[in-house]
Amino acid sequence: MTDKPRILTGDTPTGQLHLGHWVGSLENRVALQNQYDCFFLIANMHAFTTRADKPDEIRRSTLDIVKDWIACGMDPENSTFVLQTEIPGIAELSWYLAMLLPFNRVMRNPTLKTELETKGLGDNYSFGFPMYTVGQCADILIFRPELVPVGEDQLAHIEPCREVARRFNQMYCAVDPHTEDDDYVKAGGLFPIPEGKVGRVARLIGTDGVNKMSKSLNNAIFLTDTLKKIKKKMGGLYTGRQTMDEPGDITNSLFQYVHAFIRNDERVKELEEKYAKGDNIGDGHIKVEVAEHIDKLLEPMRERRAPYEGEAGDQKILEILREHTTKANAAAEETLALAKEAMKLDFVQRSLIFK
Ligand code: TRP
Repeated sequence: MTDKPRILTGDTPTGQLHLGHWVGSLENRVALQNQYDCFFLIANMHAFTTRADKPDEIRRSTLDIVKDWIACGMDPENSTFVLQTEIPGIAELSWYLAMLLPFNRVMRNPTLKTELETKGLGDNYSFGFPMYTVGQCADILIFRPELVPVGEDQLAHIEPCREVARRFNQMYCAVDPHTEDDDYVKAGGLFPIPEGKVGRVARLIGTDGVNKMSKSLNNAIFLTDTLKKIKKKMGGLYTGRQTMDEPGDITNSLFQYVHAFIRNDERVKELEEKYAKGDNIGDGHIKVEVAEHIDKLLEPMRERRAPYEGEAGDQKILEILREHTTKANAAAEETLALAKEAMKLDFVQRSLIFK
């Protein structure tokens, strides 16, 4: 046990992680993992909300996402990796929280609406799909974290979580509704009101130069890409600029990459000045320079990933997940018991057994 404040965050295993994930959330996780007691969730149950017919793919992505995490430097020795489907307390708490969230409030969630559109789900989505908003509240609250490092798109999911945490604390722990968010636990509440924390670059543009980076839009640079691939993808970034002496716009898509991945202020300034003036500098040169910086960022990731390649690597990942399932459930069961006690549901004590 530790008395460090907690972090909970995670990813849905729907495919490989990319640079948008890195600057939006992964980088923060790595930076904060020593200061906080971190719980990192693989939301594999949520993957079923849109892909219930693809269990093989979901299982594959589940293992791959853990490989991505370890590659990034998220440390299984230091943090707890939470496999959502092995934490029964999450599903239980989801039910209780569902009673405290108005149906219309759930359906109003802008991120949910956007997802319905981008995934082309129309009217044809499962009941489980909007339910995942409630599930996400439970994912978070069952670990009672103070901080939830996420990409900008996820903030809309953190908000109902904060609302439901306040409501639970008021309804079942007799916390005064006028209490400041930071003081809920001091005032006798079970759940801290968790705060979302967005990374250094809230919204990374994709290599199409138009949309947010996203696997489904085919405009992503993956953490597993080689220098050759990175160069090719960067090369395709369209800016509209034609010649080396044409004054360029230093807020264009290419410069968003310069700002995100060239971590040398002097060099960035120099590039900005030359580009703005059109001082003998081609987009192609800058693209190569950015690609090289990205490659340098990914190099240690390739090294950390190497021991986990292939089938033998899968086995190592499964071993980590099994071990961590015990740790994660210890924390989850503690919260669930307290929540049920607050709800006058403490009829029987229980403990889970893992084989
Ligand atoms: N919905 C998140 C995503 O798709 C994943 C997720 C599930 C999550 N539960 C969470 C993120 C709890 C933060 C906290 O990226």
